[in-house]
Amino acid sequence: MTEEINQNYPPAYLKIDAATQASGFTMPSDPLTCSLLRTLAAAKPGGKFLELGTGTGLATAWILDGMDGEATLVSFDNDATLLAIAREFLGEDRRLSLVEADGEAWVQANAGQKFDYIFADTWHGKYLLLDEVLAMLNPGGLYIVDDMLPQPNWPEGHAEKAANFVKYLESQSDLLVSKLHWATGVIVAVKR
Ligand SMILES: C[S@@+](CC[C@H](N)C(=O)[O-])C[C@H]1O[C@@H](n2cnc3c(N)ncnc32)[C@H](O)[C@@H]1O
Repeated sequence: MTEEINQNYPPAYLKIDAATQASGFTMPSDPLTCSLLRTLAAAKPGGKFLELGTGTGLATAWILDGMDGEATLVSFDNDATLLAIAREFLGEDRRLSLVEADGEAWVQANAGQKFDYIFADTWHGKYLLLDEVLAMLNPGGLYIVDDMLPQPNWPEGHAEKAANFVKYLESQSDLLVSKLHWATGVIVAVKR
């Protein structure tokens, strides 16, 4: 067995990847993370999905590829230029709502919403407003984060922040947490 992805990439992914590289965006999700996101997305037919931090839509494309026709995905980012790339290649997908919003404002305004699958890929829902976002999980809901192994771009002090975050997740009695040395380091948790 190797880590190689030997199944088809989502149709829009290669175009988004090219546009992402041209844009100079420096925080794209790793393809291996994306392939895991797609696999897990297929476990939630008809589910309500949330991505915090769309970027240019790389992970969004994979999540959509795993979702069935009844599932829906809300993905937000505060950067209109990045969102425009996601919109160009994924905007026709009726299952997807792309939202330009600040993380804090979005989470506070949507506190009552519930999701079956949350990919938290920005500050909010991970290092900020974590309790508020965990409270959005339905029973059986998946909570997924990446970049948990030391990254070259981590600023000073981030390693401690990351370690505290992991400890906090593991202290939650209603979450079952697995830490994967996969891609940039992925945590998958499921709410009891
Ligand atoms: C790690 S990147 C997301 C990568 C993306 N999921 C992908 O698949 O490539 C983090 C994103 O968070 C966004 N972001 C940073 N601060 C934010 C904020 N306060 N509110 C909303 N989005 C924010 C950035 O614009 C960036 O696109």
